[in-house]
Amino acid sequence: MKALILCAGKGTRLRPLTFTNAKPLIPIANKPTIVYSLEMIKEAGITEVGIVVNPDNKKDFEATLGTGEQLGLNITYIVQEEPKGLAHAVAISEDFLKDDEFLMYLGDNLVTVDLKKFVEEFNNENMDSFILLTPVEDPSRFGIAVLKDNKVIKVVEKPKDPPSDLAIIGVYIFKPVVFEAIKNIKPSWRGELEITDAIQWLLDNEKNVGAHIIYGWWKDTGKPEDLIEANRKILEQLKDSRNEGIVYENSSIHGNVVIGKGARILNSVLRGPIIIGDNVLISDSYIGPYTSIGTGVTIENAEIENSIILDNATIAHLETRLDSSIIGANATVVHSDRKPKTIRLVVGDYSKIEIPR
Ligand code: G1P
Repeated sequence: MKALILCAGKGTRLRPLTFTNAKPLIPIANKPTIVYSLEMIKEAGITEVGIVVNPDNKKDFEATLGTGEQLGLNITYIVQEEPKGLAHAVAISEDFLKDDEFLMYLGDNLVTVDLKKFVEEFNNENMDSFILLTPVEDPSRFGIAVLKDNKVIKVVEKPKDPPSDLAIIGVYIFKPVVFEAIKNIKPSWRGELEITDAIQWLLDNEKNVGAHIIYGWWKDTGKPEDLIEANRKILEQLKDSRNEGIVYENSSIHGNVVIGKGARILNSVLRGPIIIGDNVLISDSYIGPYTSIGTGVTIENAEIENSIILDNATIAHLETRLDSSIIGANATVVHSDRKPKTIRLVVGDYSKIEIPR
C-alpha cells in the first residue's frame, strides 16, 4: 500500500503565515503538522509516500522533508498546477499510485488514530474504499456519510440539508477502481472534482465502501484558533520534562517543560506544558501553559501563554500578557518607551492585531 497526502491548498485562512510556509508545514508543538501524519503512516507500515503540492509551495516541502529519508520514508512530490479538487489531485497521481491500493490523507488534518487497524480492516473485508467519520455539529461544512449496518450507503459533499451528522474526515483508503470513478464524475458547484462524488460513484456501482466512526480528537487546522487548539491538545500529551539547556537558579519550572539545546532561562517562571526549542533566550518573563516556542526565539520581560511562537521571533518588554497568539518566524513584538507615545506597526498583509483598550 502507498500513501498520498494532499497538500496543494493555499491556506488562505492562515495568512500571513501561509505566505512564507505551506499550511501543513506550520509547526504544532515545534513539529510540522504533516510530520505527525507521516509518523503514523510509517507506523502503519507504509513507506512509499506521494505528496501533492502546488507550484508555489513545492520548494517549502522539499526544504523541510527532502526525500523523506530522515523519517524512514521515500517521498515523491506531485505538482497540482491548479486547485481543481481532491479527486483531481488523485487523478494526476495515477502514475505514482499505479495499480496499488493507497491511503489518502488530507495534509492539514491532524488525526491521532491507529491507521494500521484501519488498513487491516480494509484488507480483511475486501473493501474498495474506506473512510473515517466523526459526528460534527455543523455537517453542512463537510462531506457527509449515511450508514446502514456499518456500511456506507450514501455520501454527499457539503449538503444544505444534511442527511446525517457524520462528517468524512481527512483519511481515506482506496483500491485503483477509484480512478474509474473519478473519470465518471463532473466538477461540483465550486468547480472542483470532489472525492465525495467519486465515492458516491463507487456506491452507485455496487462497490464495497466501509467506514469507521471515531470519537477521538481530529482537527482540520484551517484557522488560527484551530492551530492554537491543536497545539494545546498535543502539549496536553507531554508526559515528562527534559532539559538540555541551562536554567539559572533564579528561575522556577512547574509541570512538564521540554527545553532544547543551548536554551537559557533566566529570572523567569515557566508553567508547563511548554515546549522550548534550541537556542532560545527567556529572561525576566512568565511563560504559561500550552505554549510552544521555536528555535532561536528571544523573550525578554514579557508574559505569554497558550500561544505558538515560531523560530527566531523576538518578544520584549510587553505591558500586557500575550494570550492565544501566533507569532510568525522572525517577527518582532516589542513595547518601546519612544516618544511620542504612539503605536508603531509594520504589519504584513492579512495580519490580525488586537490591542486592548
Ligand atoms: C474536504 C472534503 C470534505 C471533508 C473535509 C474534511 O473539504 O471535500 O468532504 O469532509 O475536507 O476536512 P474542504 O476542506 O475542501 O472544504
